[in-house]
Parts: sequence; structure tokens; C-alpha cells
Amino acid sequence: MKTVVITGSARGLGFEMAKVFRKNGYNTVLSDINLERLEQAKRELEKIESAASAEICVCNVTASEDISGLIAFAKEKFGEIDIWINNAGVNQPEKAVWELTEDEINAVIDIDLKGAVMGSRLVMQEMAKQKRGAIYNIEGYGSNDAMMLGLSVYGTSKRAVTYFTQALAKESAEKNTGVIVGRLSPGIMITDFITNALGNKEKINLSEKTKKVYNILGDYPDVVADFLVNGMIKNTQNNAKIEWLTNKKAAWRFMTAAFNKRDFFKES
Ligand SMILES: NC(=O)c1ccc[n+]([C@@H]2O[C@H](COP(=O)([O-])OP(=O)(O)OC[C@H]3O[C@@H](n4cnc5c(N)ncnc54)[C@H](O)[C@@H]3O)[C@@H](O)[C@H]2O)c1
Repeated sequence: MKTVVITGSARGLGFEMAKVFRKNGYNTVLSDINLERLEQAKRELEKIESAASAEICVCNVTASEDISGLIAFAKEKFGEIDIWINNAGVNQPEKAVWELTEDEINAVIDIDLKGAVMGSRLVMQEMAKQKRGAIYNIEGYGSNDAMMLGLSVYGTSKRAVTYFTQALAKESAEKNTGVIVGRLSPGIMITDFITNALGNKEKINLSEKTKKVYNILGDYPDVVADFLVNGMIKNTQNNAKIEWLTNKKAAWRFMTAAFNKRDFFKES
């Protein structure tokens, strides 16, 4: 039975990916910063009948000792780790660079960028010993050089995550580790992430224009997770990019926008 470890997986995309892996018979390790939320997520996950096991482990990705602890925990429970996903991430407050505090900037870089770098570094050390495994990092706004007011530091982190992941894939190939490295590109998902900065610390007030774009291009995370996980399960290539919202799909969504009935932000 195979094992997947996902950081930041008590909710959102990480949690939805865990559900799809479980449906496919994978043992799952959910990890996040809050034990209570993890316990609740585990109960929810176990509603999906499966011969596989689900475990939880608190891990703040800004602390490398937590990441090492998560790796040791997964190994102790399940032996080897087949897939590791650096998914934990936060959005930034909707401010220009000079309006952000130093703490806000540090949080975004530490979680979104350094969390992925340290997670990759530490799990690669283990997977290189196994001589197999797969590491995936999550792209986001900015990965393709797009820019907009209020996403500068987040975009910088995600642009860097893309470069870093490609560089890691190259190193893995050159050093013959046997480990594949890839990127997951989830597009726009309707999760707490898009309406809350820095975890749940600060509300982001989406403009009507932004909501309109999200209604056209956005999806709930379960839909995206299904696509991404099936892509990961099939993938055997190093340096793969598994992309949900391709340019072609986005163009089609805009062309058919007049028929789009989705309203993710409707008051219930
Ligand atoms: N929602 C989107 O539109 C979107 C688009 C592109 C990429 N992404 C990326 O997808 C990933 C998941 O986002 P989501 O939409 O599911 O967000 P989310 O806010 O629903 O979930 C993120 C999870 O990460 C956890 N987390 C935050 N800081 C952490 C830390 N220091 N250590 C460990 N866990 C931590 C949170 O507690 C939360 O459970 C992120 O990397 C995000 O950048 C999201």
C-alpha cells in the first residue's frame, strides 16, 4: 500500500487531495498547524471507506524540526513515503509592498517559499535513500510572471517555487536519485485562502470585478484535487507540471462566460 504525506492538509486543497488519495487506496498523513482541526479532518476523511489508514501529525512548515518530525512520523507509521506534497500556503494581505509589515512579508516567504524548499530538502534526503518517491510543490498566482496590486510577495514566492521545483528536478536527474519532482498548478479555487490573508488573520474583501473573474475561472477544491491526484498517480516523469487551469481552458471559460451560472459568492 502506498503512502502520501501532505502539508497544510486540514482543509482546502490539501484535505481534498487526501480524500482522493484515500479513495485510491493510499495511506495518508494529514499535517497542519492545529491539532483540533487535524482531528476533525481525520474523522471526516475516515468516512470514506478504505483499507488504507489515515494518520495526523502537527507540522508547522516554518520549523524544520517539525518537518523532520513529520517525515519520521510517516516512516514510523508506514515505512516508506511514496508521494510528498508541499501544499501549506497562505495568501498575503491586499496591500502594496511598502504597506505590508515586516512580519506579514516574513510569513508569506517563510510558509509559501521556505516551507516548500525545506520540505523538499528534507524529504529528498529520505527519498534518495529509498531511491524512489515523488515530491510535488504547488504553483500559484505569479508562477507564470502575472502581476497585480496586492499579490507582490505571494507572487514572488510562487514564482520562486516554480524555479526552485524545476531546479530540484534537474538536480535529482543529474544525481540519479530515482526521485521525481513536479509542480501542481491548481488555478483558482474557492477556499478560505482567497478571502483570508495569512491563514485566517485578515479578511480580504474581494471586489465585484474579482468575484466575476473567480466565478468564471474558479472551481471548488474537490474538483481540482480529483484532477491533480489522478495526474500524480499516473505520472512517472520527472519535472512534470500537472495543470488544471490551462490557457485553453481559461479561454474557453471566458468564451462561454455568458452561459456561466456559477455564483460562488451568493449570500445564502
Ligand atoms: N485557493 C486558490 O485559489 C489557490 C490558487 C493557486 C494556488 N493555491 C495554493 O494551494 C495551496 C493550498 O491552498 P488552499 O486554497 O487549500 O488554502 P487553505 O487556506 O484552504 O489551506 C491552506 C492550509 O495550509 C495551512 N497552513 C498555513 N500555514 C501553515 C504552516 N506554517 N505550516 C503548516 N500548514 C500551514 C493552513 O492551516 C490551511 O489548512 C497553497 O499552497 C496555495 O498557495 C491556492
